Amino acid sequence: MIKVAPSILSADFANMSLDVKTVEEAGADMLHIDVMDGHFVPNITIGAPVVKSLRKVTDLVFDVHLMIDNPEQYIKDFALAGVQIITVHAEASKHLHRLLQMIRNEGVKTGLALNPATPISVLEHLLDDLDMVLIMSVNPGFGGQKFIPAIYDKISLTRKYLSEKNRHIPIQVDGGIGLDNIKKVCDCGAEIIVSGSAIFNSDSIKETIWLMKKADEV
Ligand code: DX5
Ligand code: ZN
Repeated sequence: MIKVAPSILSADFANMSLDVKTVEEAGADMLHIDVMDGHFVPNITIGAPVVKSLRKVTDLVFDVHLMIDNPEQYIKDFALAGVQIITVHAEASKHLHRLLQMIRNEGVKTGLALNPATPISVLEHLLDDLDMVLIMSVNPGFGGQKFIPAIYDKISLTRKYLSEKNRHIPIQVDGGIGLDNIKKVCDCGAEIIVSGSAIFNSDSIKETIWLMKKADEV
Protein backbone atom coordinates (compact mmCIF):
# COMPACT_ATOMS: atom_id res chain seq x y z
CA MET A 1 0.00 0.00 0.00
CA ILE A 2 1.14 3.52 -0.76
CA LYS A 3 2.10 5.59 2.27
CA VAL A 4 0.19 8.86 2.38
CA ALA A 5 1.35 11.92 4.31
CA PRO A 6 -1.36 14.61 4.29
CA SER A 7 0.10 18.11 4.32
CA ILE A 8 -1.63 20.30 6.90
CA LEU A 9 -0.74 23.35 4.83
CA SER A 10 -4.13 22.88 3.19
CA ALA A 11 -5.98 22.16 6.47
CA ASP A 12 -8.09 24.71 8.32
CA PHE A 13 -5.55 26.46 10.59
CA ALA A 14 -8.35 27.49 12.95
CA ASN A 15 -9.49 23.88 13.35
CA MET A 16 -6.19 22.13 13.09
CA SER A 17 -6.78 19.46 15.74
CA LEU A 18 -10.05 18.45 14.09
CA ASP A 19 -8.42 18.12 10.68
CA VAL A 20 -5.49 16.19 12.14
CA LYS A 21 -7.85 13.73 13.82
CA THR A 22 -9.80 13.32 10.59
CA VAL A 23 -6.72 12.31 8.60
CA GLU A 24 -5.53 10.05 11.41
CA GLU A 25 -8.84 8.19 11.45
CA ALA A 26 -8.77 8.06 7.66
CA GLY A 27 -5.55 6.00 7.76
CA ALA A 28 -2.87 8.61 7.08
CA ASP A 29 0.60 7.12 7.56
CA MET A 30 2.17 10.31 8.86
CA LEU A 31 1.41 14.00 9.15
CA HIS A 32 3.41 16.29 6.85
CA ILE A 33 4.01 19.64 8.52
CA ASP A 34 5.24 22.45 6.26
CA VAL A 35 7.35 25.03 8.06
CA MET A 36 8.04 28.18 6.00
CA ASP A 37 9.89 31.32 7.08
CA GLY A 38 9.25 33.92 4.37
CA HIS A 39 12.97 33.84 3.44
CA PHE A 40 13.82 30.44 2.00
CA VAL A 41 10.35 30.45 0.46
CA PRO A 42 8.01 33.41 -0.06
CA ASN A 43 5.45 32.28 2.52
CA ILE A 44 5.16 31.99 6.30
CA THR A 45 3.42 29.16 8.14
CA ILE A 46 3.97 27.76 11.61
CA GLY A 47 6.81 27.04 14.02
CA ALA A 48 7.71 24.61 16.79
CA PRO A 49 5.17 25.90 19.39
CA VAL A 50 2.24 24.98 17.13
CA VAL A 51 3.80 21.58 16.41
CA LYS A 52 4.19 21.02 20.16
CA SER A 53 0.49 21.75 20.70
CA LEU A 54 -0.51 19.40 17.88
CA ARG A 55 1.61 16.67 19.44
CA LYS A 56 -0.97 16.44 22.24
CA VAL A 57 -3.89 15.61 19.96
CA THR A 58 -2.54 12.76 17.82
CA ASP A 59 -0.25 9.73 17.77
CA LEU A 60 0.61 10.19 14.09
CA VAL A 61 4.27 10.32 13.08
CA PHE A 62 5.21 13.98 12.60
CA ASP A 63 7.15 14.57 9.41
CA VAL A 64 8.38 18.16 9.48
CA HIS A 65 9.42 19.74 6.17
CA LEU A 66 11.63 22.73 6.98
CA MET A 67 11.57 25.33 4.22
CA ILE A 68 13.63 27.82 6.18
CA ASP A 69 17.01 29.52 6.17
CA ASN A 70 19.39 28.62 9.01
CA PRO A 71 17.69 25.31 9.77
CA GLU A 72 20.52 24.52 12.24
CA GLN A 73 19.04 27.06 14.60
CA TYR A 74 15.69 25.28 14.96
CA ILE A 75 16.47 21.53 15.02
CA LYS A 76 16.41 21.31 18.81
CA ASP A 77 13.09 23.15 19.08
CA PHE A 78 11.38 20.74 16.69
CA ALA A 79 12.96 17.71 18.33
CA LEU A 80 11.66 18.92 21.70
CA ALA A 81 8.24 19.44 20.12
CA GLY A 82 8.11 15.66 19.63
CA VAL A 83 8.61 15.15 15.90
CA GLN A 84 9.91 11.89 14.41
CA ILE A 85 11.29 13.07 11.04
CA ILE A 86 12.92 16.38 10.15
CA THR A 87 13.48 17.07 6.46
CA VAL A 88 15.84 19.88 5.54
CA HIS A 89 16.53 21.38 2.12
CA ALA A 90 19.84 20.69 0.38
CA GLU A 91 19.76 24.32 -0.79
CA ALA A 92 19.35 25.76 2.72
CA SER A 93 22.61 24.75 4.39
CA LYS A 94 26.32 25.10 3.68
CA HIS A 95 27.05 22.21 6.03
CA LEU A 96 24.53 19.54 5.17
CA HIS A 97 26.50 16.69 6.70
CA ARG A 98 26.72 18.46 10.04
CA LEU A 99 23.05 19.41 9.88
CA LEU A 100 21.98 15.79 9.29
CA GLN A 101 24.18 14.66 12.18
CA MET A 102 22.59 17.28 14.37
CA ILE A 103 19.13 15.88 13.60
CA ARG A 104 20.15 12.28 14.33
CA ASN A 105 21.86 13.35 17.54
CA GLU A 106 18.45 14.53 18.72
CA GLY A 107 17.08 11.02 18.12
CA VAL A 108 15.10 12.19 15.08
CA LYS A 109 15.10 10.66 11.59
CA THR A 110 16.57 12.67 8.73
CA GLY A 111 15.11 13.66 5.41
CA LEU A 112 16.82 15.61 2.64
CA ALA A 113 14.64 17.65 0.28
CA LEU A 114 15.69 18.62 -3.24
CA ASN A 115 14.08 21.52 -5.09
CA PRO A 116 13.02 20.73 -8.67
CA ALA A 117 16.22 22.20 -10.13
CA THR A 118 18.61 20.53 -7.68
CA PRO A 119 20.46 17.52 -9.14
CA ILE A 120 20.34 14.21 -7.28
CA SER A 121 24.15 14.09 -7.20
CA VAL A 122 23.94 16.02 -3.92
CA LEU A 123 22.91 12.71 -2.29
CA GLU A 124 26.17 10.98 -3.14
CA HIS A 125 28.24 11.64 -0.03
CA LEU A 126 25.29 11.70 2.36
CA LEU A 127 23.84 8.23 1.83
CA ASP A 128 24.83 7.02 5.32
CA ASP A 129 23.12 9.99 6.89
CA LEU A 130 19.72 9.78 5.25
CA ASP A 131 16.53 8.08 6.42
CA MET A 132 14.42 9.58 3.61
CA VAL A 133 14.82 11.56 0.39
CA LEU A 134 12.19 14.16 -0.50
CA ILE A 135 11.87 15.02 -4.17
CA MET A 136 9.97 18.27 -4.63
CA SER A 137 7.59 18.13 -7.58
CA VAL A 138 6.67 21.82 -7.30
CA ASN A 139 8.72 24.84 -6.31
CA PRO A 140 8.20 24.96 -2.54
CA GLY A 141 6.18 27.71 -0.90
CA PHE A 142 2.55 27.08 -1.69
CA GLY A 143 -0.05 24.34 -1.80
CA GLY A 144 -2.22 23.73 -4.83
CA GLN A 145 0.45 24.00 -7.54
CA LYS A 146 0.78 21.78 -10.61
CA PHE A 147 3.11 18.76 -10.64
CA ILE A 148 6.20 19.50 -12.79
CA PRO A 149 6.30 16.68 -15.41
CA ALA A 150 10.12 16.58 -15.58
CA ILE A 151 10.10 15.23 -12.01
CA TYR A 152 8.78 11.81 -13.07
CA ASP A 153 12.20 11.11 -14.58
CA LYS A 154 13.96 12.52 -11.54
CA ILE A 155 12.08 10.09 -9.26
CA SER A 156 12.98 7.13 -11.51
CA LEU A 157 16.62 8.22 -11.62
CA THR A 158 16.73 8.56 -7.84
CA ARG A 159 15.21 5.11 -7.36
CA LYS A 160 17.71 3.63 -9.80
CA TYR A 161 20.61 5.44 -8.16
CA LEU A 162 19.66 4.28 -4.66
CA SER A 163 19.20 0.67 -5.82
CA GLU A 164 22.61 0.72 -7.53
CA LYS A 165 24.11 1.93 -4.27
CA ASN A 166 22.21 -0.81 -2.40
CA ARG A 167 20.32 1.65 -0.21
CA HIS A 168 16.75 1.17 0.87
CA ILE A 169 16.06 4.81 1.57
CA PRO A 170 12.39 5.69 1.02
CA ILE A 171 11.62 8.36 -1.55
CA GLN A 172 8.95 10.87 -0.62
CA VAL A 173 7.47 13.13 -3.30
CA ASP A 174 5.76 16.42 -2.48
CA GLY A 175 3.65 18.81 -4.55
CA GLY A 176 0.80 18.61 -7.02
CA ILE A 177 -0.14 14.99 -6.32
CA GLY A 178 -3.74 13.82 -6.44
CA LEU A 179 -5.77 10.79 -7.47
CA ASP A 180 -5.03 11.55 -11.13
CA ASN A 181 -1.25 11.10 -10.91
CA ILE A 182 -0.42 9.25 -7.66
CA LYS A 183 -0.07 5.89 -9.39
CA LYS A 184 2.37 7.25 -11.96
CA VAL A 185 4.46 8.90 -9.21
CA CYS A 186 4.63 5.59 -7.31
CA ASP A 187 5.38 3.58 -10.46
CA CYS A 188 8.45 5.80 -10.86
CA GLY A 189 9.64 4.72 -7.40
CA ALA A 190 8.04 6.96 -4.77
CA GLU A 191 6.99 5.24 -1.53
CA ILE A 192 5.60 8.12 0.49
CA ILE A 193 3.25 10.63 -1.08
CA VAL A 194 2.67 14.08 0.36
CA SER A 195 -0.64 15.60 -0.60
CA GLY A 196 -2.34 18.74 0.65
CA SER A 197 -5.00 20.32 -1.51
CA ALA A 198 -6.12 17.08 -3.17
CA ILE A 199 -6.97 15.69 0.28
CA PHE A 200 -8.28 18.69 2.18
CA ASN A 201 -10.26 20.17 -0.72
CA SER A 202 -11.92 16.87 -1.56
CA ASP A 203 -15.54 16.05 -0.73
CA SER A 204 -14.45 13.20 1.52
CA ILE A 205 -11.02 13.32 3.14
CA LYS A 206 -11.49 9.74 4.29
CA GLU A 207 -12.34 8.36 0.88
CA THR A 208 -9.57 10.30 -0.86
CA ILE A 209 -6.88 8.99 1.51
CA TRP A 210 -8.24 5.46 1.14
CA LEU A 211 -8.23 5.67 -2.67
CA MET A 212 -4.70 7.14 -2.64
CA LYS A 213 -3.36 4.34 -0.46
CA LYS A 214 -4.85 1.75 -2.79
CA ALA A 215 -3.91 3.48 -6.03
CA ASP A 216 -1.08 1.05 -6.82
CA GLU A 217 -3.43 -1.95 -6.61
CA VAL A 218 -5.41 -1.04 -9.72
C1 DX5 B 1 4.81 23.00 -0.85
C2 DX5 B 1 4.69 22.11 0.35
C3 DX5 B 1 3.78 20.98 0.13
C4 DX5 B 1 2.36 21.37 -0.13
C5 DX5 B 1 1.75 20.33 -1.00
O1 DX5 B 1 5.80 23.92 -0.64
O2 DX5 B 1 5.95 21.60 0.72
O3 DX5 B 1 3.87 20.03 1.20
O4 DX5 B 1 1.61 21.50 1.04
O5 DX5 B 1 0.49 20.75 -1.34
P1 DX5 B 1 -0.26 20.24 -2.65
O6 DX5 B 1 -0.48 18.76 -2.45
O7 DX5 B 1 -1.51 21.02 -2.65
O8 DX5 B 1 0.62 20.52 -3.83
ZN1 ZN C 1 6.01 19.86 2.11
